[in-house]
Amino acid sequence: MEDLLKQIKDYKDEIAAYAANGEKSAEEFRIKWLGTKGLVKNLMIEMKNVPAEKKKEFGQILNEFKQFTEAKYEELKSSTSNLKPQASNLDLTLPGNSIPVGTRHPISLMANRIISIFQRLGFAVAEGPEIEDDWHNFTALNLPEHHPARDMQDTFYVQHLATGGTDWLLRTHTSNIQIREMQKGKLPIRIICPGRVYRNETVSARSHCFFHQVEGLYIDENVSFADLKQTLYFFAKEMYGQDVKIRFRPSYFPFTEPSAEMDISCMLCKGAGCNVCKKTGWLEILGSGMVHPNVLSNCGIDPNKYTGFAFGMGIERPALLKYGINDIRLFSENDVRFLKQFTSAV
Ligand code: DAH
Repeated sequence: MEDLLKQIKDYKDEIAAYAANGEKSAEEFRIKWLGTKGLVKNLMIEMKNVPAEKKKEFGQILNEFKQFTEAKYEELKSSTSNLKPQASNLDLTLPGNSIPVGTRHPISLMANRIISIFQRLGFAVAEGPEIEDDWHNFTALNLPEHHPARDMQDTFYVQHLATGGTDWLLRTHTSNIQIREMQKGKLPIRIICPGRVYRNETVSARSHCFFHQVEGLYIDENVSFADLKQTLYFFAKEMYGQDVKIRFRPSYFPFTEPSAEMDISCMLCKGAGCNVCKKTGWLEILGSGMVHPNVLSNCGIDPNKYTGFAFGMGIERPALLKYGINDIRLFSENDVRFLKQFTSAV
């Protein structure tokens, strides 16, 4: 009994001297003294060794000690809660935590830039399906079955699950959108059509099995090759700068007649010849032409009344040039370290 009283006195001294430091200390104090395995509990257990005639006296001392310990705990708790921010110690001028913001994909930036130039000329955006039937992707575009020009684009065919039909494919170009818009029969048509296309090509730094194109189509009465040239001149100057030089080369596409490819002077060497332009000083940027009368009539438009021009260009290549990227695969790998570099509009 004497030992226990001495022990309680020592404990009291220790508790009285205990000073709060930091938020954890009130909780540490509670566990040490008032927890289920704490020292106050231990003393309660000692009660059974106290002689019967002293039990009442010791019980009172113990109770008083317990209250003393609890009071100290309350005091510690309220003093540590004062450490939490209060109106008086909140500094609203401190910088906040920054919220990470996503960035636009470089292909979207480039597509949007191309689209916005044509929108200023009155072109509206149109879209179409990526899984397409053979007719919209080829036949209607004046590429009947077994036409040799079908080999220009290595095609992924897909089997239709319901019918087992194999005339379904992943579109090889955005020209299917032209057909779908012409079929709607609302004239005149002035559209710009961005989209993803697929070709069965080996993946490398320079080519991929999917990429992006922008298609354009203008159909009205009296549309001429001069309209085509002026529209594409305007585009090239807005896109690549007013000093850019432009040339048209005769070409062949089954869906246009006549057809032409458009080159611009290489913006890297300013026409002097470098590796990117293969020492020619010119970069090919798009295919174009006057819509073939067969295509118009395939879509129910009278080729004697209406004429039109069309063009199509890839998006990856201008994006590679614009940003100085040397591997097309980076566009589809979704490496955030690559993507987050494209924060502003081009
Ligand atoms: N569809 C062609 C291709 O993928 C690009 C093209 C050329 C589209 C001429 C056109 C066009 O609309 O008139 O290579």
